[in-house]
Amino acid sequence: MFRDPVQSLEAPSFQPTAEALRPLRVGMIGIGTVGAGTFRVLARNQALIAGRAGRGIEVVVVAARNLARAVSVVGKDVALTNDPLQVATHPDVDVLVEAAGGTGPAREWVLAAIRAGKHVVTANKALLAEHGNEIFAAARQHGVAVAYEGAVAVSIPIVKALREGLTANRIEWVAGIINGTTNFILSKMRDEGVGFAQALAQAQALGYAEADPTFDIEGIDAAHKITLLAANAFGMPLRFADAQVEGITALQGLDVVCAEQLGFRIKLLGVARRREHGDGVNGDGADGVELRVQPALIPATHLLAHVNGSMNGIMVKGDASGVTMYYGAGAGSEQTASAVIADLVDVARLHGTHAAQRVPHLGFHAPAIHDHLAVLPRAAVHTRHYLRVPVHQAQQVEAVGAWLAAQHVPVAKVQLACAQHLPAGGTPQVLVLTDAVAQATVDLAVHALGAHPAVAGPVVSLRVEMLEG
Ligand SMILES: NC(=O)c1ccc[n+]([C@@H]2O[C@H](COP(=O)([O-])OP(=O)(O)OC[C@H]3O[C@@H](n4cnc5c(N)ncnc54)[C@H](OP(=O)(O)O)[C@@H]3O)[C@@H](O)[C@H]2O)c1
Repeated sequence: MFRDPVQSLEAPSFQPTAEALRPLRVGMIGIGTVGAGTFRVLARNQALIAGRAGRGIEVVVVAARNLARAVSVVGKDVALTNDPLQVATHPDVDVLVEAAGGTGPAREWVLAAIRAGKHVVTANKALLAEHGNEIFAAARQHGVAVAYEGAVAVSIPIVKALREGLTANRIEWVAGIINGTTNFILSKMRDEGVGFAQALAQAQALGYAEADPTFDIEGIDAAHKITLLAANAFGMPLRFADAQVEGITALQGLDVVCAEQLGFRIKLLGVARRREHGDGVNGDGADGVELRVQPALIPATHLLAHVNGSMNGIMVKGDASGVTMYYGAGAGSEQTASAVIADLVDVARLHGTHAAQRVPHLGFHAPAIHDHLAVLPRAAVHTRHYLRVPVHQAQQVEAVGAWLAAQHVPVAKVQLACAQHLPAGGTPQVLVLTDAVAQATVDLAVHALGAHPAVAGPVVSLRVEMLEG
């Protein structure tokens, strides 16, 4: 007689405890964009989520500042309070969803929940990038999980990909477009030829940028996310304070079109790259991790160059997998809920297991985290570079190339910016592409070039990332 091999493996005597079968009880702090989306999707997809989790998932208590607005979202069956700490430590709560944001009070709430034995789910990348080492240590001590898929590129399950799907690999680099607001702005600058300020105003009018867009446009939000990805990729503590962070506020429309002329596009990239002893391009033996956010040129034919508007795209290079790519929305109410609920399902499945049997917070069990792994200083980062040099006379193009070569800058291409890109009668611009070179060498050359008599204004220098397989 045919026997289903899967069924026959199931121990007939297996009886889940009543504790493991009852619904997972959620306490939520904040019922704004993320909180309300999570509540809505949990309600809409209740049956299928329970089918996947093996048990129901119920929001039992919510903390909000504006209770009238909260009740309009969650109805009358969910307890409401003004006091987030009450939710964090509530006896009926198994897992806290922190959906309020910020780093001060949120840290207190999350630590209080952990000490009270609650699991935590959060999409708060600022909190984890800045206080994650402390929060994860507390969670290990108290045997609870802190899950954060929604903290990075919400629709894309990149934390799961790094921690689970790619566990066989030595990760060489992770890089991507991980801030939708700046990607929207850069896409507008390229497509419509508008300047940064005008593109930002459009992003704000359409709701893609906050009234205070500082975290996005200064690259801080992307730095929070690449910090989390680097820790998971390389098994290192969170080192946000050491990340090199440059936003797009100083980016000029002229460089967007000049990059285009050379066959490149400018994207705000988060990059985390492992550099092992001796693999420095110039054999300088630097060992550590590059952890950085900056506007950079990528080839126009590269897959990431086609991640436009507010979308996110991430690439990971593993030694066995090769390059893999992930694409999806980087923000949004239900898009973030998708990640938050995936974390809740994980918690529902793991609730009751021993911490040692779970996926570790940063993908590696604590003894395997490389505490010594440091972020390389900016000067030691090797990439190709783009330089734009305003000159008094167009004939000086070759002289600029020769001068840079004499300063040990490996010039790969030098040409004049096409006249149609420049204002009528504008200063001629020499465009230079280099081969890979240490940032220190480029910085010295750019500084000295500024004082050269042929040069008519500030020299612009941007990194070029090839992100090859
Ligand atoms: N929105 C996204 O697409 C997205 C994507 C990924 C990650 N995230 C992260 O998710 C978190 C929440 O973002 P969000 O967009 O949902 O923010 P939001 O729309 O501003 O919602 C935050 C909610 O938290 C409440 N809140 C703040 N402080 C509180 C306090 N002390 N007590 C009680 N309630 C409090 C606010 O209440 P009031 O309205 O009454 O002030 C508001 O309802 C942030 O960490 C954010 O970085 C957001």
